[in-house]
Amino acid sequence: MKDRVAWLQGPSAHCEVTSANVQTPWRLVLLGAPGVGKGTQADLLNQRLGACHLSTGDVFRAAGSRSECEQSPAIKEALGYMRRGALVPDSTVWEMVRERIACLNCGGGFILDGFPRTLGQAESLKQLLDTEGIMLSAVLSYELAASAIVTRLGGRRTCEKCKAVYHLTERPPKVEGCCDRCDGKLFQREDDRPDSIKVRLETYERSTAPLIEFYKKLGLLVQIEASGPPDEIFDRTVVEMESRRIKVHAQKLWNAGENRR
Ligand code: AP5
Repeated sequence: MKDRVAWLQGPSAHCEVTSANVQTPWRLVLLGAPGVGKGTQADLLNQRLGACHLSTGDVFRAAGSRSECEQSPAIKEALGYMRRGALVPDSTVWEMVRERIACLNCGGGFILDGFPRTLGQAESLKQLLDTEGIMLSAVLSYELAASAIVTRLGGRRTCEKCKAVYHLTERPPKVEGCCDRCDGKLFQREDDRPDSIKVRLETYERSTAPLIEFYKKLGLLVQIEASGPPDEIFDRTVVEMESRRIKVHAQKLWNAGENRR
């Protein structure tokens, strides 16, 4: 379940780990401003639920780390948008997600992080899931003041090998500049510099925040306060998810009873 090779490399790659022992897979979308902690929570959720952490940003970064001649013109263009902190065009993102449809159909479930990010992407995803008969379990929306978000982004460091995420003061590695998990070197993402951070936050408000209303109308939204340490936010997330699952189950029983009358 934890093997993301088909997501990161595309349909020609096959995951080694199967999803055979997941009884009720979770299918989640994580919403929230850049730097709110979606990736950190997705990792914790992945460890607890088994569902794969599918980040569109990770796919673009993985493609960007290949040599220049292996990069398609669409990927080169996408990397330019990312560096500036702007969104990659919907058509490029959608093409990339659509060719990874097997990951959405996976019996282990999924945790979508960073997608959808515009109303257009959300509509396309809804249509695809409806056609495939896949139901989202919930959309988790993480919420935090902009000042705290800027601090989180400015201090973020990422491992160049395993992509584990640290923070200079909040989640420092044991040895400065070195990954605890694999000894890889830590680096600062290009889009975590002040100019790009400003553009990303403005873009979020303009293009992504409207998705909160979109998913509220669909009855899928779960709002979560994202202040405090990651473990506390994770505990809050699990409580909210359980209470949603109980509500959905109760609603199904109620509907079944109504239909029998
Ligand atoms: P993407 O990679 O998706 O980045 P993002 O959404 O901007 O989110 P981040 O990864 O920056 O933050 P996060 O919320 O995951 O926070 P994290 O857990 O790392 O996208 C990058 C770019 O790709 C986009 O700008 C766009 O160009 C392009 N792109 C991707 N998808 C696209 C799409 N669908 N459409 C169009 N374009 C797309 O945490 C941040 C820091 O805070 C870390 O240092 C962490 O250690 C620390 N931290 C986390 N939690 C806590 C806590 N509770 N307390 C203290 N510190 C914490």
